[in-house]
Amino acid sequence: MEKFVINGGNALRGDITISGAKNAAVAIIPAAILAEGICVLENVPNINDVTVSLKILAAMGAEVRLLNKNTIQIDSRHIKDAVVPYEMARSIRASYYFLGTLLSKFNHAKVSMPGGCALGDRPIDQHLKCFKALGAETVIEHGMVEITAEKLIGTQIYFDKITVGATINAMLAAVKVDGLTILENAAKEPHIVDLANFLNSMGADIMGAGTDVIKIRGVKRLQGTNYSIIPDQIEAGTYMVAAAATGGDVTIKNVIPKHLEPISSKLVKMGVGIEEFDDSVRITGKKPYERMNLKTMPHPGFPTDMQPQFAALLTLSQGTSIITEGIYEERFRYVDELRRMGADISVDGKVAVIEGVAKLTGAPVKAADLRAGAALIIAGLCAKGVTEIEDIYHIERGYEDMALKLRAVGADIQKRRFPAPDALRAAL
Ligand code: EPZ
Repeated sequence: MEKFVINGGNALRGDITISGAKNAAVAIIPAAILAEGICVLENVPNINDVTVSLKILAAMGAEVRLLNKNTIQIDSRHIKDAVVPYEMARSIRASYYFLGTLLSKFNHAKVSMPGGCALGDRPIDQHLKCFKALGAETVIEHGMVEITAEKLIGTQIYFDKITVGATINAMLAAVKVDGLTILENAAKEPHIVDLANFLNSMGADIMGAGTDVIKIRGVKRLQGTNYSIIPDQIEAGTYMVAAAATGGDVTIKNVIPKHLEPISSKLVKMGVGIEEFDDSVRITGKKPYERMNLKTMPHPGFPTDMQPQFAALLTLSQGTSIITEGIYEERFRYVDELRRMGADISVDGKVAVIEGVAKLTGAPVKAADLRAGAALIIAGLCAKGVTEIEDIYHIERGYEDMALKLRAVGADIQKRRFPAPDALRAAL
C-alpha cells in the first residue's frame, strides 16, 4: 500500500509548472474517436484517469502511441466496436463521454454506468435527456447504458441543471448530426471551451462554448488534428492554496490567469499576495489570513473542485468561515480527517462552519477522493509533525507528479510503500 508521508512546516518557495487539464483531457481523448485521421494531443497530463481513457481506446482497437511523456498520437480509424470494456469504464467518471462519441460515430454506444469520486448522488438523467432529444433510444440494464439511433436530428435542448458532463456529452453526440443543435443552460467551464476548440480544429462547427448557449451545426466529417490541451485550472488552484497555506513564495507557471479568477479573487480577499503575469501567477503568503464565506457554483463561480483545498486553508485562518457546497450532495467527507489534525469544523448538510485554530498537528489520515486528498496534503504541509496519507491512488488520478512538484519547492513529502494490513496479519 502506498502513502504520502509529509513532515510539515516548510514554507514553499520556487516555481511549479502546471500540467494539462484532467477534465479537458478525459473529454478530448474519447472525442479523438471521431477523427477520420490521426490526432496528436500535446500537454496531456500523465495521470491515472488519462491512462484509463487511453487503455479504453486501445482496447477498442485504436492505435495509441506515446510520443513523449505528455504527447499522445491516436489513430481511431480501425475502431469497429461501439462497446466499451466494462471494468475499465466503471473505474472513472469520464467513461460516459464514450457514449456521446460512439453514438456520433456508430449511431450506437454501450458503456458501463460511470464511476468516479463518491460525492453523493450523481445521476446521468441530463445526459440521457440529450441523447433522446437527438433521436436515440436509451436502455440501462446489467450496469450498462446502451443507446441506439436510426437517425439523429439536430434539436434544441434545455438543461434542467447546469452540468459539465451532460454539456460535453451533448456536444460529442451532436457534432456530426444533420442540422442545428442548440444547447441552452449549458455549463461554461474552461474545459468545455477546450473541447469545442479541439472539435473545431477537426472541422466541427461549434459556436458559443463558454456561454450558456452553445450552437452546434452538424458536419459530415472530422479530420485528424494536432492540439495542445489547456493548463489545469484546479491543479493550479491547488498549488496556489498550498503556497498561501505554508506562507511561502511560489510562482505557478503554465497557467491561463483568466481561468483562475474565481480562485485568485477569494485568495486576495483573504489577504494572500497575488501577482499575475501572461502565463504565470506568483503567490506570496502573508499569514494569518482573514476568515471568509464560500459557496461553490458552476463556472465562473467558485469551483466545487477547489472547496476541500480552501477548507484546509480556512482551518488556519482567523475567525469563523462558512463553506456552502452548491454542486454536490456530499463533499465534506474529508472533514473527519482534518479533525484528526486538530481542525475545528462542524458540518450540517451542505454547510460547513470552520473555526480557525492556531495550529494543526500531523496524523495518519485517508484520502476519500481526489480533491479531499489534495486538502489533506495542504493540511499536512502546514501541520506540526508527520502526516501519513493513505489511499493516495485517489490523488494520483488527477495530479501529475504531485510529490515531485512539491519537493521541488521545499516540501518534505515522500511516497512510501507499506505492507498491506493483510500482509501484516499474515506476518503475526
Ligand atoms: C465534472 O463532473 C468533473 N469531472 C468534476 O470534477 C467536477 O466536480 C464537476 O464536473 C463540476 O464541475 C470530470 O470532468 C471528469 P456535473 P460531472 O455533471 O460532469 C448533477 C474532479 O475533482 N447532475 O457538472 O459529473 C450532479 O449530480 C471531479 O476533478 C445531474 O443531476 O459533474 C451534480 O450534483 C469531481 N444530472 C451536478 O449536476 C446529470 O445528468 C454537477 O454535475 C448530470 C449531473
